[in-house]
Amino acid sequence: MHIAVLNGPNLNLLGVREPERYGTTTLAQIEAMVRGRARELGAEIDWLQTNHEGALIDAVQRLRGAADGALINAAALTHTSLALRDAVLAVRIPFVEIHVSNVYAREEARRRSLLADLAEGVVVGFGPQSYLLGLEGLVARLAASQVGK
Ligand code: DQA
Repeated sequence: MHIAVLNGPNLNLLGVREPERYGTTTLAQIEAMVRGRARELGAEIDWLQTNHEGALIDAVQRLRGAADGALINAAALTHTSLALRDAVLAVRIPFVEIHVSNVYAREEARRRSLLADLAEGVVVGFGPQSYLLGLEGLVARLAASQVGK
């Protein structure tokens, strides 16, 4: 099982960025946690972080045929990018939307997601653990969809 993890703008600064909101765990540490849990679950991880909307869209387009599912933390692009939504609609791959912070307890603009209704599920507010919870949910969902195939 191949899972792509796509991270959007500013997530490379996790660990130093607004630590009171996002904590002190770095993205590299989250990547190591996700890779470790994926190994236990028998899944392989492709990991990407980019600060560029077009690069994130290119990465979504490349998912077709390359991954069975994805975890997507599109960061601020979650709330703004119709182009990213269009890419996800075009590719139609099962994915879980992830956020470190509880976006629903924040500003109005962050309470709107252009991806959530397309997702298998959404995990917000659990800090770095949001990624692990999303991974577990996605792997279970993908495994269930394989039963009988
Ligand atoms: C975030 C939430 C977004 O609103 C914000 O723009 C981010 C991080 C999160 O993981 O909590 O950059 O996606």
